[in-house]
Amino acid sequence: MLACPPCPTPPRNPFSLPRLRQRLLALDGALRDAAEPGPLLARAAALGRSGDPDPRHGRRVAALAGALAGKHGLPASFAVELASAAELHDLGKVVLPRSLLVKSGPLSVTERQRVAMHTRVATWLFGEARHPVLRLAATVARSHHERWDGGGYPDGTEGDRTPLPARIVAGADVWDALTHDRPYRPELGNGEAAALVRQMRGTALDPAVVDALLPLVL
Ligand SMILES: [Fe+2]
Repeated sequence: MLACPPCPTPPRNPFSLPRLRQRLLALDGALRDAAEPGPLLARAAALGRSGDPDPRHGRRVAALAGALAGKHGLPASFAVELASAAELHDLGKVVLPRSLLVKSGPLSVTERQRVAMHTRVATWLFGEARHPVLRLAATVARSHHERWDGGGYPDGTEGDRTPLPARIVAGADVWDALTHDRPYRPELGNGEAAALVRQMRGTALDPAVVDALLPLVL
C-alpha cells in the first residue's frame, strides 16, 4: 500500500522520483491491457495522495472537476476520466519537502519557484504514459496553474490556449483550497470564497468555469 488516506498526517512519499515514474509506467501498461480500469486508477490516485499534507484534497477536486465537466456539456464518460485524472493534479509535489508544503508564513521568491516546479516535475513523471486517463492527467498536472489572463505557470498560456480540462481543474482546485484549511490561513466560508472566485473570473479563472462552478457549490 502506497498511501494511508485515514492518517491525518501521512508520511512523505518514500519513493524516489525515478521509482515513482517507473510505477506510473507500469500502471500505464496494465491500464492499456485492463478490461476494468477502476482498481488500477485507484492505485494511481493513491500515488497522487502520497505526498499531500491534505490527502483528501485530490479526491474533492476530482469530484468537483467531474461535475464541472458535466456542466460544460462534456460526455459523461469524459467527466469520469477527468475526475480520475484530476486526482493526480498535484502529483509533482512529491518532489517538495514537507516543510515547504506545510509552511504557514509567506513563501520567499525561491520557495515559490520551487513550488511552481511541481507542474514540470509531473510532466516528467508521466513521461511516456499512453493510457488516455494518464495523458489527461499529464495535461492537467502541467497546466492547472495557468491563468486565463496568461499570468500563470509553467507556460504562461492565455485563455483557451490552456486545455479545457486544466481550466476546469484550476477552478475546482481554487474552490477547494479556499474552502478548506490551509497552512497559511483557515478555511473560508462559502460566501467569502465565492466573492474571491468572482474576482478571479476572467483574470485567474476561465469565466465559463466560474459560471459553471458557483451554481454547483452555492
Ligand atoms: Fe498544483
